[in-house]
Amino acid sequence: MSALQKMMGWIDDRFPLTATYKAHLSEYYAPKNFNFWYFFGSLALLVLVIQIVTGIFLTMNYKPDAALAFISVEYIMRDVEWGWLIRYMHSTGASMFFVVVYLHMFRGLMYGSYRKPRELIWIFGVLIYLVLMAEAFVGYMLPWGQMSYWGAQVIVNLFAAVPFIGEDLSIWIRGDYVISDATLNRFFAFHVIALPLVLIALVAVHLVALHEVGSNNPDGIEIKKKKDPKTGIPLDGIPFHPYYTVKDIVGVIVFLMLFSAIVFFAPAMGGYFLEAANFVPADPLKTPEHIAPLWYFTPFYAILRAVPPLFGSQFPGVVAMGLSIVFLFFLPWLDRSKVKSIRYRGPIYKAFLAAFIVSFIGLGYLGLLPSTPVATIFAQIFSVIYFLFFLLMPWYTSIDKTKPEPERVTG
Ligand code: HEM
Repeated sequence: MSALQKMMGWIDDRFPLTATYKAHLSEYYAPKNFNFWYFFGSLALLVLVIQIVTGIFLTMNYKPDAALAFISVEYIMRDVEWGWLIRYMHSTGASMFFVVVYLHMFRGLMYGSYRKPRELIWIFGVLIYLVLMAEAFVGYMLPWGQMSYWGAQVIVNLFAAVPFIGEDLSIWIRGDYVISDATLNRFFAFHVIALPLVLIALVAVHLVALHEVGSNNPDGIEIKKKKDPKTGIPLDGIPFHPYYTVKDIVGVIVFLMLFSAIVFFAPAMGGYFLEAANFVPADPLKTPEHIAPLWYFTPFYAILRAVPPLFGSQFPGVVAMGLSIVFLFFLPWLDRSKVKSIRYRGPIYKAFLAAFIVSFIGLGYLGLLPSTPVATIFAQIFSVIYFLFFLLMPWYTSIDKTKPEPERVTG
């Protein structure tokens, strides 16, 4: 027995290293027909790691103090060795996180990955999405630029629209009557420790649930139903390692090429990843002409603005915005179709999904623009379609004419 084998034996007697490696990698059988859309889970993990590592290095030089925050970021950009790279990786990573997660969620919609038995994977996913939004929001405040300040002002003020307790609630969140140093300090605490801890824990349970039931696939059929009688291995399954580790590495390399191109050549991405107004220090006395959140929040911002105020209160819009996410949780129970994958669904579901995606992107675009009467009408139409996708789902998924699913996975 070699020294290495001896050492492994020593560890395995005390910790299930080989057993874990087998259960989750070399003897974890994933469907053999994963396609392009299955790159984004591992890419989300990669971006999570990039954000944590670059975040640690940023924290070494950043100062969570209203008088120093902005110049500490400038210091990172100009004086800290490679500071500009670390910061641009982190700011690009934030937007790319959402690009990857949106594609990952879209895959779930297309292949019905949220359906039984994967409801919990989906629910953990929606929670991840919520925490990610909170993480991005508090993080955007840290550079203490004009948009950090006024964006936080607008969002925290939404809580003031809650009847009866709103005013107190918003003061409690800010820790002050206006966005101030106290707010910056607590947002910093949430950004660097509280929310990342929750995020990592949620990602862990997301994966535990996934490995409990096994992955779905582009055909939306369960590979565990057809097993080799002798070995008990799913006939359409292949070991995750080496097959999917190698496939995922291809995704990682292509992703890093794109990521580097942005970091090195267009880190502000024409204002979509870093807004021009955020290169100006926060000024509580000067409201920027046009306050818009970053692109990944704009669909929800558009829904918020599409709902007219009631007795001068923005509360109905806030409720609509909240509901637009809450509905996601119920998707597994709203969908009554006999099949999971879009490949075997009928035309009605396909039309609804297409209308939903167009509305979501349309809302995202409208949320970037200043509000005008025409834009508001479009935002209202898109918002109605967005909600109808969920509300009518039990009906249209049950009447839709589906195609028969295959017995075994196809190419
Ligand atoms: C930090 C964010 C996230 C990470 C790191 C992550 C990670 C992963 C990984 C590694 C997989 C397996 C590989 C794959 O199927 O692509 C997976 C599967 C899945 N994820 Fe996520 N995920 C994240 C966010 C989300 C969100 C926001 C949702 C939905 C709201 C979601 C829903 C799902 C579903 C339904 C599956 C199973 C897909 C299938 O088997 O077809 N995930 N996730």
